Amino acid sequence: GRTVMLAVDHGYFLGPTTKLESPRKTIAPLIPNADSLMLTRGVLRTSVDANVDTPIVLRISGGTSILKELSNEGITTSIEEAVRLNACAVALSIFVGAEYEKQTLMGLASVVDRAQEYSMPVLAVTAVGKEMARDARYLGLCCRIAAELGANFVKSYYCEDFKKVVEGCPVPIVIAGGKKIEEFEALDMSYKAVQEGAAGVDMGRNIWQSDHPVAMIKAVRAVVHKNATPKEAFDLFNSLKQGKEA
Ligand code: R5P
Repeated sequence: GRTVMLAVDHGYFLGPTTKLESPRKTIAPLIPNADSLMLTRGVLRTSVDANVDTPIVLRISGGTSILKELSNEGITTSIEEAVRLNACAVALSIFVGAEYEKQTLMGLASVVDRAQEYSMPVLAVTAVGKEMARDARYLGLCCRIAAELGANFVKSYYCEDFKKVVEGCPVPIVIAGGKKIEEFEALDMSYKAVQEGAAGVDMGRNIWQSDHPVAMIKAVRAVVHKNATPKEAFDLFNSLKQGKEA
């Protein structure tokens, strides 16, 4: 009932993000430890071998860049294309409280309608604008709206009183990692999230921007799948980064 999704979709609005400049190089060593890969069709086509059987969560929203209003997203990839690409779920962002809130929420509702025809699960990514507080009240609002519109699971951020966000959302929540922080802090955040009811993580930068990404994803797995404490997971990270098998 838990998952470690590897998020490598950042280029869709950030371009060649640090340590994801060459997606194939970043993704390849992490694949064996990811329960799914979250990416765009461009990176799937070019940077993941066709014989990889790790489930694909396909990002199907975008159309804007870091240089413009981020919430002005639309649907970039059809459900039929997601089926052709053998995706196991599709993901799109919603921007609650932002300028184009309605456009993104109606986009979610419409994607759910079309995805239902193929029993394709939909992940709503609760994207947070620069000016919005990442607190339980706001994230709770975003997650609940996503679930009400038919999302099968929701990606959010960890926050104080995260339990309240979970309680108010009738579908599973996975947490994003956000900007790179110290490894121990990221493991601690993941631990608190799953202990407070998250179904796992959809994590990117805190894995592949680490100097030891394979050790880090293994440590995150220990937290998510084995309930390792932050200290246990950090010890595992340290031992793996020194090349020892734990
Ligand atoms: C953001 O829009 C993307 O969907 C990322 O996949 C998401 O933010 C998770 O990545 P990170 O853990 O780096 O925040």
